[in-house]
Amino acid sequence: MTKQTGLDRRNFMKGAGLTALAGAAGTVATVASSGASAQSSNDIPLLAGGRYDFDTPYNRVGTNCSRWDSPPRNYPGGEFKYGMGVASMDFECAPCITEALQDRIKHHNWGYLSTTEDLRNGILNWNAERHGVELAPEMITISDGVYPGMIAAMRSFIPKGNKVLIITPAYSGFYSMARGAHIETVDSEMLYVNGRYEVNWEDLEAKMTADVRALIVCNPQNPTGNVWTHDELLRMGRLALEHDIVVLSDEIHSDVVRRGHKYTPFAAVNDEAVVNNSVTFNAISKTFNLAAMKNAYYYSKSPTTLARVNQYHRAELSTLGVVANTAAYENGAEWFDQAKDYLDDNHTFIENYIKEHMPSVGYTRNEGTFMTFLDFSKTMAAIDAESQAVAHGKNTPEQYFQDWLVHQSGVYLNPGSSYGEGGSGHMRMNVASARSVVSDVMDALATAVNKV
Ligand SMILES: Cc1ncc(COP(=O)(O)O)c(C=O)c1O
Repeated sequence: MTKQTGLDRRNFMKGAGLTALAGAAGTVATVASSGASAQSSNDIPLLAGGRYDFDTPYNRVGTNCSRWDSPPRNYPGGEFKYGMGVASMDFECAPCITEALQDRIKHHNWGYLSTTEDLRNGILNWNAERHGVELAPEMITISDGVYPGMIAAMRSFIPKGNKVLIITPAYSGFYSMARGAHIETVDSEMLYVNGRYEVNWEDLEAKMTADVRALIVCNPQNPTGNVWTHDELLRMGRLALEHDIVVLSDEIHSDVVRRGHKYTPFAAVNDEAVVNNSVTFNAISKTFNLAAMKNAYYYSKSPTTLARVNQYHRAELSTLGVVANTAAYENGAEWFDQAKDYLDDNHTFIENYIKEHMPSVGYTRNEGTFMTFLDFSKTMAAIDAESQAVAHGKNTPEQYFQDWLVHQSGVYLNPGSSYGEGGSGHMRMNVASARSVVSDVMDALATAVNKV
């Protein structure tokens, strides 16, 4: 596998502070020095003293994983060391998921599924218990990703040539979805006020022209980390309603909210007309790192709004995806609560590290998500990333800087220019790794940035 990916596995081991790793993930015995108990015979880590082990790096290299195995294809010289880009977590998944999958694969037949009732109940209970949203089964459509649901909604509400409005910087996938639906996008760039990204209300309303048929709300916002308050959501929703624009609320990061912040589902805002004018897209694929298990759902409290999306949508669910997601909904809460605290502490670690060791890098305190959006504009100016991008045939200075960082530090981050207006000078970093990996990454970044 090492040959296939062109990766130097020892780089990872060295970087991650490991001395011995077994083969591909899934067979790696990760017994924590912190006292986690020995593995069960099938390598599912046991809960020791009530704690899951997020500290021991879990080696994903060579498992065809996009976060660690894609970037090195562009760096055949072995410069790449740390995959801190794509939004998946490095942790070994909740044991209840592996157990459920192992149980199911004892049966060797993979024909069509009969029912998704347990999955649907899991979705209903999760929303009610964790977020106080009471949904009825008929309000929900199960999907195989946020992408297909959103594309169906765009096709349904936005005629070709018309537009979807995006509050930016925002998840790059929204632009791909719009391309998939043959529609245009309009950005409304946020303002940066006292260290927080804020909606530019005047600009947002000015962009709500007659050809704009939908507004994407991303809550929590990837990559800026905003967890939108009730009043902010209500204001977005009322503006959209006034301009006859439907709200598509992507809440895939809804569970990953930091201490002191509260996620408000768009469907819980205090205005029935606003709620009925919306469709919410959600999943636990960020919560439990189940992205490639292809499972999500969308819902609307308005049956007609939901029916409009459904006419363009057809889910193709996989048996293992349903098994994994159902197990996570039913038995994964404790694992996730611990993971969430760990991620929160990683954010704090990064914030303190930057203040102390990399003062030239701008830091925005995240309210949610396990991504952080760092401002490298001073370093980029110092190396003249703009001219260098032209000289190296890169589309944006941030793309050049991505390469520069890999060559100087081994760290692979996502260029801010992928996230629409307001992304320039920034890079997105994934913080969902063992603390020792995050710490090594920060040291590598500081060494590169501070010598400029
Ligand atoms: C805001 C947001 N929406 C959607 C997705 C992708 O969702 P899915 O994999 O379910 O299509 C991501 C993945 O990073 C995301 O961050």
